[in-house]
Amino acid sequence: MREIPVPVTSSRFPLPPPSPPLARPEVEDLQAYSAPLEGRRGLLRLDFNENTVGPSPKVVEAIRAIPADHYAIYPEYDGLREAVATNLADRFGGRPGLAHPLTPEHVGLFNGVDAALHAVFHAYGASGDRLLTTSPTFGYYTPCAQMQGMAIEAIPYQGADFAFPLDQLRAALLGQPPRLLLICNPNNPTGTRLAPELILALAAAAPQTLVVVDELYEAFTGDSLMPLVDFARHPNLLVLRSLAKTAGLAGLRMGFAIGDPGVVDRVSRVSGPYDINSFAVTAALAALADQPYVDAYVQQVGQARDWLVQQLMAAGVKHHAAGGNYLLLWPQQGPAVVEARLREAGILVRSMDGKPLISGSLRVSIGTLEHMQRFWAAYAAIEHPTT
Ligand SMILES: Cc1ncc(COP(=O)(O)O)c(C=O)c1O
Repeated sequence: MREIPVPVTSSRFPLPPPSPPLARPEVEDLQAYSAPLEGRRGLLRLDFNENTVGPSPKVVEAIRAIPADHYAIYPEYDGLREAVATNLADRFGGRPGLAHPLTPEHVGLFNGVDAALHAVFHAYGASGDRLLTTSPTFGYYTPCAQMQGMAIEAIPYQGADFAFPLDQLRAALLGQPPRLLLICNPNNPTGTRLAPELILALAAAAPQTLVVVDELYEAFTGDSLMPLVDFARHPNLLVLRSLAKTAGLAGLRMGFAIGDPGVVDRVSRVSGPYDINSFAVTAALAALADQPYVDAYVQQVGQARDWLVQQLMAAGVKHHAAGGNYLLLWPQQGPAVVEARLREAGILVRSMDGKPLISGSLRVSIGTLEHMQRFWAAYAAIEHPTT
């Protein structure tokens, strides 16, 4: 038997301390997406576009009713895909419903849309493939692409109102079809909206590209593809939806990927069998069954947004409000100072400093009218102490 050589050490030449094994080169180079700061409870949270009042009381009731012995059982997902399809088809309260019915196989369940995005890149993005997207947009797309070793082409929004760069994007899409096209509609953080018909046309023009449409904020301005899309005709389209921002379940994590059953199957294959926990399943079923609660919250946000925009206009504050439950504004004292002073007043907002095109702005999430009145009183006192 051969002997394994033992390294010779001496107190004069000690071995360097062992270092942990390196990860894949893509991961070693990766800058992780910075998650929300800690210590946000008890403050008015207008920094991550969350629902500012919490979920329906029926959700709270359903979670409280879970017997303790159920905590010991692995989660069961039966009925949740059906409930998503039924909810999307529901025309209650003037909602548009679906032009083409969905089956449960059209719906993938994920631990938040973040996990759905991660799975999309994992399933479809290989090293050297290209992601086509826009800039600035939601920050998690970039690390997802980087961890796969993908190249990123991000086309800037255009002009003072951050219009969608349709011609440039179409040229980039058709010139050399990328593996993935990611469109955030409406876009976070610019609020830019793109007509769903135009997205269908882009998808039809590039059948080899998986076109992922992040519809996290569609409810606030009604920009969804769902009332139009026929996944049998557009199998390369995948729509992402979440219960975080409208239904108030950001902490429980529940996201959906809706598309052709073949694509949904591929994206689901790279997720663990129990990635979504039982509490989230119970909460999601209750939230989907109480759409009027969500619709009423969305309506309140719309009213609060209109009120805040009026105040900004009257006070001459530079701002940009388009889709979604958020807007951008440019404080005279700079975003870092105003962000810190608002925090002292118990209000969190998000500085967009350093982001292309919108550096110097703050992103402010819209909550209820009462919340926006609180925000405006504090903001006006910081920026215009004499008025
Ligand atoms: C555009 C966009 N997509 C996805 C997410 C993540 O959503 P979820 O909380 O469902 O993971 C966010 C959260 O801020 C977002 O703004």
